[in-house]
Amino acid sequence: MANHKLALKENVEGNFFVDTTCIDCGACRHFSPENFGALGGYSYVHKQPENEAEILTSKQALLACPVGCIGTTEKTELKSAINSLPRKMAENIFINGFNHENSFGAHSYFIRSEDGNWLADSPRFTKHLVKKFEELGGIKYIWLSHRDDVADAKKYAEHFGAKRIIHKFDSKAQPDAEIILEDDDFTSFKNARIFYVPGHTKGHLTLLWKDKFLFTGDHFAWLTSKKMFGSFRTACWYSWEEQIKSVERLKVCEKVEHVFPGHGMWGEVGTGKFPEVIEKAVNWMISVK
Ligand code: SF4
Ligand SMILES: [Fe+2]
Repeated sequence: MANHKLALKENVEGNFFVDTTCIDCGACRHFSPENFGALGGYSYVHKQPENEAEILTSKQALLACPVGCIGTTEKTELKSAINSLPRKMAENIFINGFNHENSFGAHSYFIRSEDGNWLADSPRFTKHLVKKFEELGGIKYIWLSHRDDVADAKKYAEHFGAKRIIHKFDSKAQPDAEIILEDDDFTSFKNARIFYVPGHTKGHLTLLWKDKFLFTGDHFAWLTSKKMFGSFRTACWYSWEEQIKSVERLKVCEKVEHVFPGHGMWGEVGTGKFPEVIEKAVNWMISVK
């Protein structure tokens, strides 16, 4: 619960505020970039919401905040914003919100599919999301990008009888996962291809859904400050050399149109542009070795 006494002095005056317990995960800035900005170590309200769309995304940011450090000075109705999550991103892809502190506020996604639904990384286990996932047909697989973002995956797996998928090198984070991969997996699932992409961690995976949607965990994201896609140099725990190689091999995903990361901003690529996007990212990554 946010505390107005701890509100950052940089917040623009008005109903919404961020307090000093912010962990700078960035989730609010992704849900509502018009209203939340970066302060270097914190996020803050750089513009109060001025219309219905901004009010809704600001409330979604409040709900996504993993540590509850976004508050309102006035009594503010949240029910409609709760009901707006998971939020549709494209076709049958939804972003869940309710980001978990244990995954440092990483985003998670829900993929609706006629062959059984998927969760891509895990949000907090909340009554609301459980009900929504039940209404959407349950969860068959929980794909875990890497050890950092497992959050409440076990609780969701138990509730829905879902199979968790993780790479063996990151499996300490979910030792009882039902499917532990040792490499890529391009054959076990109808619409999904799973790539082994070590770098950020030794056991990092990406999930390519129907050739068009790439779920990247902490491997690859839209870098807002650089206005390009790439990886986080300062958040690379295993090997930057491997990270570059792993990004480069995604060049084969020629039809990718959307990138959905755990940390960092999601982004639209444009039809047929992904190989160019990768080339640009790799050139930049080599330059910041
Ligand atoms: S979502 Fe919350 S913790 Fe994360 S940057 Fe925004 S205010 Fe800070
Ligand atoms: Fe991570």
